[in-house]
Amino acid sequence: MSRSSVVVSMIVLCGVLPALGLTADTTSSPPRFEGVASCASSLCHGSARPLSAHEVLQNEYVTWSQFDPHANAYRVLLDARSKQIAARMGIGPAHTAPQCLACHAEVVPAARRGVRHQLSDGVGCESCHGAAERWLPTHHQSPAVTHAENLARGLTALERPGVRAEVCTGCHVGDRNRFASHAMMAAGHPRLVFDLETYTELWRTSGGREHYRKRDTQAPTVWIAGILGATRRQFELLEVHAARSARPDFSVYACHTCHRDLRVAAFGTNEARGSQAADPLAGAPGELRMQDGQLRLLLVLADALQLDSQSFIAAMRRLQSALNSDPAQLPGTLREARQQLDALGGALTRRSWQTRETRVVFDALVRAARSGSFPDPAAAEQAAMGLVMLLAELDLDRSRRAEIDALFATLRDDNAFDGRRFRRVLDQLEKPTAR
Ligand code: HEC
Ligand code: HEC
Ligand code: HEC
Ligand code: HEC
Repeated sequence: MSRSSVVVSMIVLCGVLPALGLTADTTSSPPRFEGVASCASSLCHGSARPLSAHEVLQNEYVTWSQFDPHANAYRVLLDARSKQIAARMGIGPAHTAPQCLACHAEVVPAARRGVRHQLSDGVGCESCHGAAERWLPTHHQSPAVTHAENLARGLTALERPGVRAEVCTGCHVGDRNRFASHAMMAAGHPRLVFDLETYTELWRTSGGREHYRKRDTQAPTVWIAGILGATRRQFELLEVHAARSARPDFSVYACHTCHRDLRVAAFGTNEARGSQAADPLAGAPGELRMQDGQLRLLLVLADALQLDSQSFIAAMRRLQSALNSDPAQLPGTLREARQQLDALGGALTRRSWQTRETRVVFDALVRAARSGSFPDPAAAEQAAMGLVMLLAELDLDRSRRAEIDALFATLRDDNAFDGRRFRRVLDQLEKPTAR
């Protein structure tokens, strides 16, 4: 088939096939999820190889089904680990438990499921790209149908880092309806980790196949959008799971404030506590810290780019204190925390990124991490993902391979984390890049 006939058939078939499932007038009701099968035709997104007729690769379905961890998200609920988690929690089989399906499948009300929609498809195309009912029939008719028109019909603007952050963090951090509780963690669920830039690239190239051709959105912009998005989700979890009960779910706190080595100086939190200027988020001795890896990155960014963060810090300290001693204050402190986050986030997002900014932030992040500002394995890991992204931006990631490997080696096992070793590796990382 010639290239132009592929294009013509694509316009015909991709429009008609999904349209067959359409029935009643649907303009006012929320759009239906049509299911992965609706995208899988070899002329749409199911080509075995990348095609060049369109800007898009057209093999997204094959890439997804064979290489994308999301295609496996439902199946993983049937494996031994999930069985064990569910049994320990006493919630029946994992693959039918709403608590698990919430993030491991596309859970939508029955009325919004198209005929091809299947729970067993796991995290499918529409989990990220949005319910397809209204854009599916026409979205491929570019340039006659514009991207803006697709967006108006409900396609999600994933090219915008802020929007993408909102989509991914809904599952990778959790939201109002999706919650990876402490009970799940204690029953064996992996601790959730997230960095938008790192995770986008890990996922985009999983299995060595590209899901889409990378555009030139700058990595630091994506990184910052992810930090802001994840922090907003954390506030959402605090609102839902801390403000409403006398004993907030433990998962809203930094895991390692409880799960830690009992030697007093094991993580170096006390050293950092020496002066509040050195670690404004340290809290009082023995206080539970909230999950603050992302917040700590924000402080480094603000500091490096000379943005005023005093009122942001004050708001975070009040939030931290409410979480420890006065849940009644939570709604008010959360409102203030959100305002401050928006203000700082706005200032950060407006900054343009040049090599100079990347350099300055990299140096500031290494300095902060070396002085103990990322005091536990989760926070240290958050810093490490950012550092590696910045090194790549500076084109130093290849020449610093050994140091990067050594850095991640210190993070491989939470239980073996040693803050001093982590900082020693950072000394190596800093040396040749110092100006
Ligand atoms: C808030 C969303 C969320 C909820 C709720 C959730 N999970 Fe997960 N789960 C994830 C994410 C995200 C990952 C991948 C974590 C990573 O690697 O960063 C994951 C990973 C896993 C893994 C490891 C998969 C692998 O390939 O290593 C298992 C097993 C698992 N989940 C089972 C469950 C079970 C069983 C439940 C219900 C008790 C559940 N999950 C509830 C989001 C969730
Ligand atoms: C985990 C979330 C996720 C899943 C699941 C997913 N995608 Fe994507 N997809 C993205 C993101 C993010 C982009 C990049 C968007 C951008 O930067 O324009 C993308 C890009 C694309 C593009 C290129 C768009 C363009 O304008 O260049 C196509 C086509 C696509 N996806 C189709 C699919 C299909 C078909 C499936 C299911 C088989 C699927 N995607 C599953 C997140 C996802
Ligand atoms: C509907 C929930 C959901 C959404 C939305 C989602 N994910 Fe996931 N993601 C998961 C689950 C569940 C897993 C674990 C799957 C497994 O291992 O079987 C996962 C796994 C991953 C992994 C593999 C992690 C590892 O340790 O190997 C990456 C990377 C990832 N997701 C990135 C993203 C990105 C980037 C986005 C947004 C564009 C996104 N995800 C959106 C639920 C989701
Ligand atoms: C407020 C303190 C606190 C926080 C914060 C906390 N936990 Fe726990 N965790 C506990 C307690 C108490 C137990 C039960 C210990 C027992 O059964 O002896 C526990 C048990 C566990 C277990 C089971 C350990 C075992 O030996 O069976 C795991 C795994 C776990 N937590 C992971 C996490 C993760 C991941 C986080 C962060 C998302 C976290 N915890 C946050 C207090 C905490």
